[in-house]
Amino acid sequence: MSAAKPADTFLSLLKIIVKPMTLEAGMKKLWIILLAISCGDMSCDKDEPPVDKNLEEYKLATEGLKDYFTPAEYFYMGVAIPSSFVDNQVKVNLIKRHFNSVTAENDMKWSSLQPTEGTFTFTNADKIVAFAQANEMKVRGHCLCWHNQIPAWIFNDGTADASKELVLQRLRTHITTVVNHFKGKVYAWDVVNEAIDDGSSTYRASKWYTICGEDYIFEAFKAAREADPDAILFYNDYTAIDPTKRDKIYSLLVKLQAQNLVDGMGLQGHWNINYPSNDLITAAFDKYKSLGLELQITEFDVSVYGSNSDPESLYTAELALKQAVAYGRFFIAFRNYKSDITGITFWGLADDYSWLDNFPVAGRKNYPFLFDENYLPKQAYFTVINF
Ligand code: GLA
Repeated sequence: MSAAKPADTFLSLLKIIVKPMTLEAGMKKLWIILLAISCGDMSCDKDEPPVDKNLEEYKLATEGLKDYFTPAEYFYMGVAIPSSFVDNQVKVNLIKRHFNSVTAENDMKWSSLQPTEGTFTFTNADKIVAFAQANEMKVRGHCLCWHNQIPAWIFNDGTADASKELVLQRLRTHITTVVNHFKGKVYAWDVVNEAIDDGSSTYRASKWYTICGEDYIFEAFKAAREADPDAILFYNDYTAIDPTKRDKIYSLLVKLQAQNLVDGMGLQGHWNINYPSNDLITAAFDKYKSLGLELQITEFDVSVYGSNSDPESLYTAELALKQAVAYGRFFIAFRNYKSDITGITFWGLADDYSWLDNFPVAGRKNYPFLFDENYLPKQAYFTVINF
């Protein structure tokens, strides 16, 4: 890969960022680019290695994301973690400094909680909840009904396929048991995850759908609502900013809302340094908020790869800059919708561990977070907190 000249990088960044915006937004973004380019306020001396003043100040201070984005003025700042993280003091320190909400990355999924019918295993999920409570953090529940990470028994009846009635009964039992278990501890649930099709159909052709039709979605929300009327219930999906998918999700939300079954729209936010544009993001926010639903970014990460065919790369200065600019403009959108957005949850803590290291390309190292592999803040972090 030939090294891009700084001027080329600057111009291509300008094109990406300023193109889709109003003048006011463009000016703000330009400011962010310049801030990012100042590279953490490096002071350079010919003989001395450069000192990153931002980093020095960070090390001396105690403020974190949750202090710059307070829930009263902005939103809860969340992080998805496996239960093992709470035994690692370095990770715990980083979590406590920056976040006031946690989500179980996998430990509240069906295959974790009820791997065999009637046997519920809450140990790991309870550990995360206890950690959150001990540190005055909220807990977002994820997720009650999904087509992945579910056991096969749900859809079987002996050697035959289970009937719709049996599948819906199992769905209700699972949701009622799980929501009751965490009642008063989990304030919001992703009730149904990824039910909308990416192609031309309305609904994903999952086992849930092929056996139950759309009824399973309504049954899931009804069971959650009945088990904990105080919990905030979300529909959650990826590419929820894509206009075609967005409009299908919107139609589902209208139907759910007519029965008072949904309170919020969760946009996963698995984005990258080039995509999506702020126009797509704000058009989606406008559409969902027109229903009066609260919005959350539920699984935020910003891949350094714009496409599946991008070769693996080291975390170069150019990528760091592009990622800082992308984070900067995404947070401009989030701040502009602070009255509607109630939470931003990162799908991981730091660049030492991310599902994106193996998806969509197995073994391609990614660097999607605000903190590097040594748990130190990246340029993107300073771009996000400087507004
Ligand atoms: C989806 C799910 C998450 C997680 C990610 C990948 O977005 O909603 O629970 O599994 O995929 O890690």
